[in-house]
Amino acid sequence: MTTGTTYAIRAEALVKRFKETPALAGVDLAARPGTVLGLLGPNGAGKTTAVRVFATLLRPDAGRAEVAGHDVVREPGRVRAMIGLTGQYAAVDEQLTGSENLLLIGRLLGMARADARARARELLERFHLDDAAGRAAKTYSGGMRRRLDLAASLVGRPRVLFLDEPTTGLDPHSRGELWDMLRGLVAEGVTALLTTQYLNEADQLADDIVVIDRGKVIAEGTPDQLKSQAGGQVLQLRPVHRADLATAHALITEAAGPQARIEGDGITAPVNDPALMPSVVRRLDQASIAVGELSLRRSSLDEVFLALTGHRTGPGGDPDGQDPGGPGPGGRGPDGGGPS
Ligand SMILES: Nc1ncnc2c1ncn2[C@@H]1O[C@H](COP(=O)(O)OP(=O)(O)OP(=O)(O)O)[C@@H](O)[C@H]1O
Ligand SMILES: [Mg+2]
Repeated sequence: MTTGTTYAIRAEALVKRFKETPALAGVDLAARPGTVLGLLGPNGAGKTTAVRVFATLLRPDAGRAEVAGHDVVREPGRVRAMIGLTGQYAAVDEQLTGSENLLLIGRLLGMARADARARARELLERFHLDDAAGRAAKTYSGGMRRRLDLAASLVGRPRVLFLDEPTTGLDPHSRGELWDMLRGLVAEGVTALLTTQYLNEADQLADDIVVIDRGKVIAEGTPDQLKSQAGGQVLQLRPVHRADLATAHALITEAAGPQARIEGDGITAPVNDPALMPSVVRRLDQASIAVGELSLRRSSLDEVFLALTGHRTGPGGDPDGQDPGGPGPGGRGPDGGGPS
């Protein structure tokens, strides 16, 4: 790729096998300093494996991985000194209090007792845990544990953060808080690699996104690039009268094809040709269907993901028999240089 740029996070042709399973089958990715790279993919895609290689917890079989210019295999100590890691499962010590957890990590990082204490206090405040600081972590709610976990990963003031599904299981409010915290860190110059099953999370936070599936990069770009790459637009129609829904559905199917679906009191249909709109309007008019809402919007990241991997991601998402063809692969090209 570009020469002369020091990426905060970089992988080249990264390979990691578990016996027969190629968890990473030649992954290239890069994050510029002070940005968030979203790493997306369905269950088992290789996201956690990639994070563990970067965090020096796993040795790659081939290829290279670097953090702030340091090779994870040759200079694991330098890498560890730069990074913070929040794993997929909160890793706080249940028996210790919030305060003791952070203090312990500070001491393990070699901080003087007073410094470790001050840092713990600062982080507990920042993550709104000061009231619960003296309670054992086992009494914390899931959201509080996640916040403590993130605080723990920040004790050593890391320049590069690896966040493996940091908001899984959080309610929307706590998730929003965690997003704000991450935005604040990035504004201070921290670089983050974020894996997530929530596509709107990647949309909100990531400057760039890499989508992997079965250990291979299948798409990359900014959230906007991915949305326009993977497939046109979505037509949304809501008739004023619910009784018109079936007729309207038949008309849209005629105009836009069999992927038109009734959802709630409206109809959605993927559309690759914007010139379709006038004919839809004409048909509705001819059938005397009063229209409450008719719009053309861009595909959501969710729809892009479905088109790319052939299955939905996330809790509640099920890889049912949905047509994986979707709007077609458009301009995706893992080796084609892609957008840069
Ligand atoms: N320690 C291990 N031993 C054997 N196989 C493993 C190990 N860790 C991961 N794998 C396999 O490697 C593949 C990638 O797993 P990984 O945990 O990286 O996926 P993931 O993208 O993080 O998935 P999820 O979204 O479910 O967290 C899977 O097929 C998994 O079963
Ligand atoms: Mg994982």
